[in-house]
Amino acid sequence: MTGCSSGIGRVAARLLIERGHRVIGGVCEEGSPAGVEERSLDLGDLESVRDFAAGLREIKIDALLLNAGVQGYDLRARTRQEIERTFGVNHLGHYLLARLLVPQVANGGALVFTTSATHDPAEKIGVPTPRHARAEWLAYPERDPEVDRGPMKAGLRAYTASKLCNVMTARRLAREPDVIARGLRVHAFDPGLVAGTGLVRTGPFVLRRVVWPMLSVMKPVLRGSNGVAEAGRALADLGEGSAGVGDEVYCSLRGGQVVEMAPSVMAQDDAAGERLWRESAVIAQLESDEAR
Ligand SMILES: NC(=O)c1ccc[n+]([C@@H]2O[C@H](COP(=O)([O-])OP(=O)(O)OC[C@H]3O[C@@H](n4cnc5c(N)ncnc54)[C@H](OP(=O)(O)O)[C@@H]3O)[C@@H](O)[C@H]2O)c1
Repeated sequence: MTGCSSGIGRVAARLLIERGHRVIGGVCEEGSPAGVEERSLDLGDLESVRDFAAGLREIKIDALLLNAGVQGYDLRARTRQEIERTFGVNHLGHYLLARLLVPQVANGGALVFTTSATHDPAEKIGVPTPRHARAEWLAYPERDPEVDRGPMKAGLRAYTASKLCNVMTARRLAREPDVIARGLRVHAFDPGLVAGTGLVRTGPFVLRRVVWPMLSVMKPVLRGSNGVAEAGRALADLGEGSAGVGDEVYCSLRGGQVVEMAPSVMAQDDAAGERLWRESAVIAQLESDEAR
């Protein structure tokens, strides 16, 4: 599991431990719930992702929960390999991890990517929505001819685009012959708005100290809002296969229930998904013998 030290993932990890599962968490810094076996993982460093995956080589995985995420506010922030950080951590690190580890996921097991409904313009959430899912332009925004000039807008759009990439990657992975043959469950999970987590930790003061806590208090009256306990439980249930959903890849936590949904129109563009899949492999320098 990634992202088990804070927020939604922290709740999910604690529940999975309580339910008797062994949880291995890939973390940048220690701080996961008691019982989680922590191993070093920086999703913003492709070598760290490879080392983490190599350390799991002997292990059969029942569920791979790819939950870590960052929301950036400035496209100048880069990963170890000089890739835009939001795209690098939220999409590329997880893409590489999924491709390296999918052969070890047990038959009938699960891969769950935590995405966000903010990737879908039809949800009218009020954040800048993705213009495209071109890996090269997202990894190196200076090459994108239409990149936003304002850092805040650009950062938020990079976030929603990375979440679009999560959905497209999950959909593409679900079509892999080996994934189908072995009955793996693949989901892109939208937890809704979950105020109060660490997601806005690098955001402007007003967002961190005023808006985010206020949204937390307003949860009962906010459309699409969920508590961290409900979101964490839903993630744990999806991993376990007890969420009560079928084969639809995209699902969303609505009114306390995980429901299957159609993702955004862009996310359903399988040709664009295929292109993202291939371009991501090139940027992550994924060799054919690595992705067994
Ligand atoms: N909160 C919401 O409203 C909301 C809505 C939709 C989707 N989501 C998604 O839900 C997921 C969890 O977010 P959250 O709200 O629970 O936020 P959070 O409390 O900030 O948790 C994020 C987790 O990601 C980890 N992480 C960040 N950068 C990492 C890196 N480079 N390598 C490895 N781990 C890293 C963090 O670890 P450290 O603490 O060690 O940095 C932390 O455990 C994210 O994918 C987010 O996009 C959240």
